[in-house]
Amino acid sequence: MRPDIATHRARRARLLKTMGEGVLILATAPEAIRNRDAHYPYRFDSHFYYLTGFPEPEAVLVLIGARAGKRARQILFCREKNLEREIWDGHRHGPKAARTAFGFDAAYPIGELDKRLPTLLENQPRVCYPFGADAAWDARVMAWINTVRGRARAGVGAPGAITDAHALIDEMRLIKDPHELDLMQHAADISAAGHRAALRVCRPGLGEWQIEAELLRAFRAGGCQAPAYTPIVAGGANACVLHYVSNDRVLADGDLLLIDAGGEYHGYAADITRTFPVNGRFSAAQKDVHEIVLAAQDAAIAATRPGNAWNAPHEAALRVLTQGMIDLKLLAGELDGLLEKEAYKRFYMHRTGHWLGLDVHDAGDYKVAGAWRPLQPGQCLTVEPGFYIRRADDVPPALWDIGIRIEDDVVVTEDGCRVLTEAAPKSVAAIEEAMRDGR
Ligand code: GLY
Ligand code: MN
Ligand code: MN
Repeated sequence: MRPDIATHRARRARLLKTMGEGVLILATAPEAIRNRDAHYPYRFDSHFYYLTGFPEPEAVLVLIGARAGKRARQILFCREKNLEREIWDGHRHGPKAARTAFGFDAAYPIGELDKRLPTLLENQPRVCYPFGADAAWDARVMAWINTVRGRARAGVGAPGAITDAHALIDEMRLIKDPHELDLMQHAADISAAGHRAALRVCRPGLGEWQIEAELLRAFRAGGCQAPAYTPIVAGGANACVLHYVSNDRVLADGDLLLIDAGGEYHGYAADITRTFPVNGRFSAAQKDVHEIVLAAQDAAIAATRPGNAWNAPHEAALRVLTQGMIDLKLLAGELDGLLEKEAYKRFYMHRTGHWLGLDVHDAGDYKVAGAWRPLQPGQCLTVEPGFYIRRADDVPPALWDIGIRIEDDVVVTEDGCRVLTEAAPKSVAAIEEAMRDGR
């Protein structure tokens, strides 16, 4: 399950083929200070990791495209071995070991980057790097190019074009390979176990933070390195706050609890939302809304098939949700007219999904040449309709503060899609049964 050399080397070879002539430069993420001298847990850059599997900070990938009879080259710059730092902070591969362990043609100390890059850029037609993403890197790359320009009188050519490295890699990341799908299934399974643990322990009087602790425990115990994003553990009215993350309120009898949480496994995210009653039994009104959201999700999942446009699942969910709003007397009028006017936005204001992978909101365009992109086998996305009803005079009180979202992760297959997160209970019956078992 760990990053494997052949897979990452093959990805780099594929990128080199797409890129053609030129030099690609891609740095991993910097370490980040949390406060004073305490760091956030380190997280590599997703693009860099996709191509290298190399987990250390202070590393740069350089790919040199094949040209004029010269073979393409894959180069890593990384930290040198350093006994003192390794005693304090842990293992460093060092260039020599990293070259073989990660399948590079060459590896050099990161401290040699400024010395070596101008030479590597000589007589190359273009530089491919994530320009505009980081001002310091922009300046550094321009300084290398200017150094090469300074050698013009010696007959050295400098790159004349700069292209965006992320755009090239985004397209690759959009279609997951079998290695990635294995990791994503693992992330999904561990995360589903976290949701089952939350169902088992939930009861009135517990704090949202205590349910969060249960999720985090399950993610770590299952092997995830971190949560893929800050968990949302939102009881009662908090569920109607879409990005609620304070998780500091006590859960009340009769309220619903919305949990949006997933773990990250070797870089890959799961993103699951379930909504269930704190006391283990849905009220009639809670059940009505839950059934509508579940039916919307079923319709969206049925619309997640190759050839359908990216927006097809969203449109399918909107029809079911808007009809549900009419049935619950939250909206008055005729379905197509209400869809046209986007009247549903008062109760459903977000979209029905996003790409999922190394980033929870993963790389890849949603439109191509102005049109929604067709779904293709190997794409991973979430399907996450919701229904959020705030207190208001024109809303029946039984529906007040009901916020429900149901979110699964799916991979598009040859003839439809496969749900990766099935192991998290989601029907009213399955949820009530799982909660009964926990008591
Ligand atoms: N958890 C982030 C999202 O659902 O998009
Ligand atoms: Mn999501
Ligand atoms: Mn989510």
